Amino acid sequence: MDRKHDQLASLVNAVKASAKYRDVNQEFITRIAAQELSKGRSEKDAIKATKNKLHQVGGAYLDKREHYTRWLVDLELAARTGQRERLLELCSAIMSHHASTRERIPILEQFYTRIFRELPPIRSILDIACGLNPLAIPWMPVNENGIEYYAYDIYHGMMDFLQAWLGILHVGGNAQARDVIQTCPTQTADVAFLIKAIPCLEQVDKTAGHRLLSELHASNLVVSFPMQSLGGRSKGMLEHYEMHFHELIGNELRWEVKKLVFDTELVFVVRK
Ligand SMILES: C[S@@+](CC[C@H](N)C(=O)[O-])C[C@H]1O[C@@H](n2cnc3c(N)ncnc32)[C@H](O)[C@@H]1O
Repeated sequence: MDRKHDQLASLVNAVKASAKYRDVNQEFITRIAAQELSKGRSEKDAIKATKNKLHQVGGAYLDKREHYTRWLVDLELAARTGQRERLLELCSAIMSHHASTRERIPILEQFYTRIFRELPPIRSILDIACGLNPLAIPWMPVNENGIEYYAYDIYHGMMDFLQAWLGILHVGGNAQARDVIQTCPTQTADVAFLIKAIPCLEQVDKTAGHRLLSELHASNLVVSFPMQSLGGRSKGMLEHYEMHFHELIGNELRWEVKKLVFDTELVFVVRK
């Protein structure tokens, strides 16, 4: 028992020693490391496999360089001086540093207009495995000063940045670094966004999508899937994910589901 514990601790430390993974929530690294060790790998192979998995589900989406401090200075100035166009321009530029959030930039306007049309008035939002999507708040048809926004992803630096961004917008709520698979948020909100999150979370735990859909404290869900992979492959993805979504909601016959198809994303708006 002690030996296993020591081996796991040493593996986690080795992964955290690399600049690329230092910023990742430790509970998440520990879970992945434990999964890899349980496959009977040597420590060296387990370190490599853990890093590969972290890359696949997180690192692959990120640019090598974030400029959180400079971005906050620019955002704060644009917001304080009421330069709306400049603020939107900055948000788009910043979102382009996350591969998944970036894909949505060309369709942002219609994306949130059409989604919110299917929802009751929204005062609070959970954004699960959010990436840089909270930068899209200015495109959401909500009263910015009156909403609460709760964002979750595995990166501490990104969540600190997003927390400060919420402050700049005078939006309530918070941004937290956490592994939503092991620690499902308990915050109640009007709607939970699981946008392009499920395929990623299921790479670590096949049951994650199903559990989040039923356990999140929100009576409305916005669940989306990519229409093409990071590598650009797109054939058959719509049909594949539509079938998968229906498998996930299984017997929830009472749930009202509206399907919306965008150029780069397949969305289901659910009223539980
Ligand atoms: C495909 S991206 C989607 C990002 C965002 N929802 C969007 O569509 O703009 C998946 C995100 O999930 C995050 N992630 C992966 N595993 C996670 C976990 N266990 N808990 C929280 N976030 C996670 C990654 O860091 C990444 O930002």
